[in-house]
Amino acid sequence: MEQYAIKGGNPLVGEVEIGGAKNAALAILAAAVMTDETVYIENMPDVRDTNVLIQAMESIGVVVNRVDRHSVKINASQIHSLTIEDDFIKKIRASYYLLGALLGKYKKAEVTLPGGCNIGSRPIDQHIKGFEALGAKVTIDHGMIIAEAEELRGSHIYLDVVSVGATINIMMAAALAEGKTIIENAAKEPHIVDVANFLNSMGANIKGAGTDVIRIRGVKELHGTDYSIIPDQIEAGTFMMAAAATKGDVLIKNVIPKHLDSISAKLVEIGAYVEEFDDAVRVVSKERMKSTQIKTLPYPGFPTDMQPQMAVTLALSEGTSIISESIFENRFKYVDELSRMGAKIKVEGNTAIIDGVKSFAGANVVAPDLRAGAALVIAGLCANGVTLIDKIEYIQRGYEDFEGKLRSLGAEIEKVTSEKEIQKFKLRVG
Ligand code: UD1
Repeated sequence: MEQYAIKGGNPLVGEVEIGGAKNAALAILAAAVMTDETVYIENMPDVRDTNVLIQAMESIGVVVNRVDRHSVKINASQIHSLTIEDDFIKKIRASYYLLGALLGKYKKAEVTLPGGCNIGSRPIDQHIKGFEALGAKVTIDHGMIIAEAEELRGSHIYLDVVSVGATINIMMAAALAEGKTIIENAAKEPHIVDVANFLNSMGANIKGAGTDVIRIRGVKELHGTDYSIIPDQIEAGTFMMAAAATKGDVLIKNVIPKHLDSISAKLVEIGAYVEEFDDAVRVVSKERMKSTQIKTLPYPGFPTDMQPQMAVTLALSEGTSIISESIFENRFKYVDELSRMGAKIKVEGNTAIIDGVKSFAGANVVAPDLRAGAALVIAGLCANGVTLIDKIEYIQRGYEDFEGKLRSLGAEIEKVTSEKEIQKFKLRVG
């Protein structure tokens, strides 16, 4: 059982390099099976979710060749099965991207119903609506989603809710459909643009990604490509928040500052200093920060995946802050853990009312999901004394070498696996 042991109190100072975007990587890996030619992908994050997806792809005959830690070559010419039942795949949400990718290429796919972080009910009705509009028959049987079609035909699809997953899934299937597809009320997240760029580099004809109307003209087949994944907006945002919360000074490198606008704006509003460079942002905070109000929204709004990290920062800021979570209904599970560290947060429905406190006290806490886990790490970095975080496998789903990167910024954090190691850590940090 791995845990993080953290001794709080050190401001984070220095430079950190951000990796490739996990959520883009997951969709791009799946999309790479849509050609029989070899696809070369760079800036692939080495995190649990991408590795689980790669394993599932290998289980149906996709050949994945790791060129180095962050580059893979993928060849899907030898696929021998269109059924993904890998037990691990249930743990990741993005398994559903293989539905759109395989349906587009082979007109049939069978994938175990997706799991992922337990942050509320996560229906896939919009994905299904999209596949059906393209002419597929979709059934759910014994926990499997089965999609099949004689042929896929372009269609006009209006999404009832703005969904990242449904937008990408429909885009993939439509790329190899006959004729033209229009997705209206599409999600606009940076990784949607990245997946569209990737598919276009394979010969697809997708226009409008990044706006709420995406137009796809189906092509007969896709070909191989070399592609580099965009930097991870949420990993970058997490380090920005960690810098601000610990009253540090961090240069966060290899980012697209535009993707961080909503996060930078909120940090500036509460009193941090944010400086933008071409491909880096610097976050500095010296004083105690102020309160604010935030509502999570689809891009370009404030990301739901940054909500817990922001809450930790606000829980240490002066005054009363209010966070409304409008995307997922169960995303305040970290509040009980944070309260054990001294935070004063009251949750009413989809709103958290945060009364800022001056400090946190280290405690034993449990990561309830990926981003909330990262938020608890930030809390530990700010707390007096030692914090132990359990269930860090959630954090490892989406952050590559989180502890190593934090240590390089001066944090006292270690991965520990036994009581003996915990004691050793405590002795070392005093
Ligand atoms: C993706 C991200 C996740 C992020 C989320 C919102 C991946 C692997 N995960 O998740 O990190 O938190 O976007 O930015 O990229 N909905 C429906 N029906 C559907 C699909 C979604 O009602 O068919 C609802 C969801 O319940 C939620 C909202 O739409 O309330 C947004 O969900 P969606 O954008 O689809 O999130 P994911 O793609 O699952």
